[in-house]
Amino acid sequence: MCGIIGILGKQDAVPHLVDGLRRLEYRGYDSAGIAVLNDHAIERRRAKGKLDNLAAEVDQHPISGQVGIGHTRWATHGVPSENNAHPHMTDKVAIVHNGIIENYLDLREELSEKTNGSVEFTSDTDTEVVAHMVGYYLDQGMSPKDAVTEVLPRLEGAFGFVMIFHGHEDLMVGARQGSPLAIGYGEGEMFFGSDALALAPLTRRICYLKEGDWAVITPEGADIMDMQGNPVEREIVQTAVSGATIGKGNYRHFMLKEIYEQPTVIGDTLTTVLNPASQTITMPPLPVNAKNITKVTATACGTAYYACMVAKYWVEQLARIPMETDIGSELRYRGTPLPEDGLALFVSQSGETMDTLESLRYARQEKQNILSVVNVPESTVARESDAVLLTQAGPEIGVASTKAFTTQLTILACMAIGLAKERGTLDAKREAELASALAEVPGRAAEVLNHDEHIAEIAKTISEARDIFYMGRGTAYPIALEGALKLKEISYIHAEGYAAGEMKHGPLALIEDDVPIIMIAPSDDLFDKTASNVQEMVARGGRVIFISDKKGIAKMRRMAEPAACIEMPDVDPFVAPILYSIPIQLLAYHVAVLKGTDVDQPRNLAKSVTVE
Ligand code: AGP
Repeated sequence: MCGIIGILGKQDAVPHLVDGLRRLEYRGYDSAGIAVLNDHAIERRRAKGKLDNLAAEVDQHPISGQVGIGHTRWATHGVPSENNAHPHMTDKVAIVHNGIIENYLDLREELSEKTNGSVEFTSDTDTEVVAHMVGYYLDQGMSPKDAVTEVLPRLEGAFGFVMIFHGHEDLMVGARQGSPLAIGYGEGEMFFGSDALALAPLTRRICYLKEGDWAVITPEGADIMDMQGNPVEREIVQTAVSGATIGKGNYRHFMLKEIYEQPTVIGDTLTTVLNPASQTITMPPLPVNAKNITKVTATACGTAYYACMVAKYWVEQLARIPMETDIGSELRYRGTPLPEDGLALFVSQSGETMDTLESLRYARQEKQNILSVVNVPESTVARESDAVLLTQAGPEIGVASTKAFTTQLTILACMAIGLAKERGTLDAKREAELASALAEVPGRAAEVLNHDEHIAEIAKTISEARDIFYMGRGTAYPIALEGALKLKEISYIHAEGYAAGEMKHGPLALIEDDVPIIMIAPSDDLFDKTASNVQEMVARGGRVIFISDKKGIAKMRRMAEPAACIEMPDVDPFVAPILYSIPIQLLAYHVAVLKGTDVDQPRNLAKSVTVE
């Protein structure tokens, strides 16, 4: 999604604007731009493609000014191009925007009528219409604040935007409706940012605007108002986000670095709830007494949704609570009735995914108790929840979710244990066994990473495939779905995940000579059935890559010979989904490297999807 930064500073803003945009690269984008105020005009530089192109443009055609805005664009309206890149502007105002103005065509026609067609649109974007609307009122002699007051109520849809005004070097305006926006407080300087990461080198004092807030900042501070212009107070927090530049270290890509960080961050996440000495799990208080929970409804998107699917097995088996999972873009449109005393669970690494956030708001309307699992404590999902479980993954820069996913699974496993304990469906002995198995996961994960070279060799055997299948049963089934998504989103090879038992109901028709099948098969109660499915695939020429432990591989080889095997540590099946995620991440990574794709910023994708 788009990234926004605004600087009302005491020194040339340009280098800090470009640096701030680099810190927002992880959000995904296809073009970028900056604009600054100086004595005679608003000056702008924009470029299609990577930020290096914008930096080169600024080097070749320097601009400077103490007041400026910057933007990385993820195209919604209008193709990726310099012309459609933000900021958009008139001679009096420049704007950067994240979100979608749904009624922009109506507003565009209205403006053309008001100005007898004199207004000239130079882009295909919805954002440019807002610039011209504000410019229209400025041309009528209104102040920037009054002009924005006129325009805001007319906008339908989601927006986070920041504006600067020619001749007003002492103010900047920002607004939030559906897309996050924060104010940064400096010493005689003020800032706007789409998240704290962009502002961290400039200030740690952050105020997150709430839905419908807008603000006028000056070097002295911020006047924050609601949509009706009534002053509101918002808390200033000291953000924990580091200002240090997040680098790749010795790794070729952020994704590989983040795969290798998993033993550490899974351990960090466990530390917050697991006591290895007493082998017990202690969860933070939930918004409802676990004994009274009638149903858990878990909602998320993409990889985070697959984490919910795994959690469904754990919650239903351990805590004996019925659990439903849904994707964020469907739940609220199904109009599904949510029961009294229901627990609504939302899982989101960024905490800003619009489909997930809007589902949370639907659950709020349905009077659910709301619990979220996020990686960003100051995120909107966290702030709108009754209780939050934090993953300790640290900033995840690669668009493809890796360490965020395994830490989500880790905290969800602990949540399931916590629920079961409160409901009396888990005895101390079994709790100790599960806690012990979880405590071993960081060490086991480090062992799995030792298979990296072997997995890179296997990647060579599938990188030219047209279609690849991932399969599993039980908690391995959502891991199969995740494996297919990982491969699709970074290597662009079509892949599908299936419940292994489902193949005979149709998809088996697709299996023929040399079709690669990644079979995820820990030695659990379903192993024998999974092994039979492998035989079905091999009998039809499928090339099975078998992921199991030593015992499972030996047993499999007595029945049929897989094309390749990845040997996993022998662990309690309860923690298998966490560990078996690692080889499928590495497999996807190495295939993508062979394909030469942009592993950390795959085409068309964004790290945080803040539009519906
Ligand atoms: C996973 O690799 C993708 N990056 C994507 O599916 C992601 O998990 C999804 O967009 C949800 O993001 P969130 O966890 O920030 O809500």
